[in-house]
Amino acid sequence: MISEHSYSQPEKEAVYRVIKERRDMRHFSQQPLEDGLLLRLLTVANQAPSVGLMQPWRFIRVTNAPLKNDIKKLVEAERVATANLLDERKGEFLKLKVEGISECAELIVVALPDGREKHVFGRRTMPDMDLASVSCAIQNMWLAARAEGIGLGWVSLFEPIQLANLLNMPEDSRPIAILCIGHVEKFYEKPMLIEQKWGEAAPIEDFLFENSWPEKV
Ligand SMILES: Cc1cc2nc3c(=O)[nH]c(=O)nc-3n(C[C@H](O)[C@H](O)[C@H](O)COP(=O)(O)O)c2cc1C
Repeated sequence: MISEHSYSQPEKEAVYRVIKERRDMRHFSQQPLEDGLLLRLLTVANQAPSVGLMQPWRFIRVTNAPLKNDIKKLVEAERVATANLLDERKGEFLKLKVEGISECAELIVVALPDGREKHVFGRRTMPDMDLASVSCAIQNMWLAARAEGIGLGWVSLFEPIQLANLLNMPEDSRPIAILCIGHVEKFYEKPMLIEQKWGEAAPIEDFLFENSWPEKV
């Protein structure tokens, strides 16, 4: 029986569609975002669930060109360090585009604030639930951006202490993500890492267990 609280069929289809068609984007056109759009995306981020209603997300909009350039350099250094760990896949990795910092219309650094230790509700045994909450906020932005026809790319290739220093962040705060946001010529049909033959995605059956973790075969 369909729940009386269900959305209408077209509304449900839109929700499933945006989840399926959301992509991590690294190619952007430099066209600016329309007025109000960035604030709409940040507003839905702030509507995300968070452990103990902690709202452990902070957003730093980067508009200063030299600062943007310094952030790009941090990412580039980490890209090279990552490549050096990849042995025989190094060359293949270096061909991948892993960020669109120079081209995107908006650059947002998402961070965990300092003072998180006073929030124990839901975090006493699992303090990293703050990070889980920030991830929910970013996913909200990602989905809303896709529905708006705007690309978003999550960049995590950086040394967090160096990024925190660049942004004058307090001790114990922690940058989590660099988000590249902007217009795109087209959305990748599949995850770019699949299109570029870096990897394949497995179906849900591979990750679904019943009653017990499966024995190793
Ligand atoms: C926590 C997190 C960090 C990520 N960091 C990067 C990154 O630094 N560079 C990058 O190109 N993609 C990054 N991605 C994007 C993933 O590569 C991408 O989500 C995955 O390949 C699936 O593609 P899709 O998002 O288009 O479905 C990140 C994604 C997540 C969730």
